[in-house]
Amino acid sequence: MQDFAGRTAFVTGGASGIGFALARVFAAAGMNVMLADIEDAALAAAVDSLSASGSNVRGIACDVADAASVERAAEATFAAFGRVHVVCNNAGVGGGTGIDDISPDTWRWVIDVNLMGAVHGVRAFLPHLRAHGEGGHIVNTASMAGLLSGLGFSPYAASKFAIVTMSEGLAMQLQPLGIGVTVICPGFVRTRIADSARNRPVRYGAAQGPDPASPAGRLAAQLAALAQAGIDPADVAARTLAAIRADELYVFTHPEFRGETEARFDAILAAMDKAAAR
Ligand code: NAI
Repeated sequence: MQDFAGRTAFVTGGASGIGFALARVFAAAGMNVMLADIEDAALAAAVDSLSASGSNVRGIACDVADAASVERAAEATFAAFGRVHVVCNNAGVGGGTGIDDISPDTWRWVIDVNLMGAVHGVRAFLPHLRAHGEGGHIVNTASMAGLLSGLGFSPYAASKFAIVTMSEGLAMQLQPLGIGVTVICPGFVRTRIADSARNRPVRYGAAQGPDPASPAGRLAAQLAALAQAGIDPADVAARTLAAIRADELYVFTHPEFRGETEARFDAILAAMDKAAAR
């Protein structure tokens, strides 16, 4: 996609972190932007802040885990701006570390938001992108945790691996329709991700943080510190805008993970070589 001015972007998780940074670059490129988020006060503040700089921005309360809520957000976006061209399935939550102490409710919450949220976004907007025929772009936020298993047995990593493969598959299928797909795979970014439990709906039960003294508790604290020391979300957003323009599938922002990525692929190829040698 080359032309941004006057077109419309829809961004889930747009009230904070990477989503807000994406909204800011889209607005700066002259796009109309609809921010969709579950956190009302942060959403209102985000809309005010972007509107104050003269951007055409609106907000809609939305729980991406709920298909009907995403459908309503899509309808509100069409009503506000007409045709939509860029859809960012970005809302995500972190939670659940350890092996035996991740509750089924925590698995459901993380998978419902991180994976099903993106599925709902694709289902709500793809028929519209196809129908208007002006081309468009779907952006899914995964993570380096979508390619590397360093986070261990966790719903977060499982959801992000799923986002990577879903994006690769969609890219193949949508390319003939002139609809691009980008999957964002950052390492640590300075956002509120470590405080994700603030947005855990009551239907998933109370968040049970791990015992801070346990290995899972220490890992959670370490991850929170790494996010705080992470890169500026604006860097992720700038790379993403460039990737949409160049129709690139992958956005990586942390080249220091190259060695680990290579080691994983090498292990997979070595195992395949064993099959070939048999
Ligand atoms: P953040 O916590 O600052 O922003 C996430 C936004 O999603 C918040 O505004 C939150 O209210 C919203 N949200 C949460 N649950 C929602 C729901 N059910 N429906 C709608 N909105 C919901 O965190 P961040 O880091 O900006 O997260 C954005 C994406 O980036 C996520 O998918 C996350 O997994 C991904 N990511 C973050 C990294 C990091 O180090 N911060 C690294 C790699 C990926």
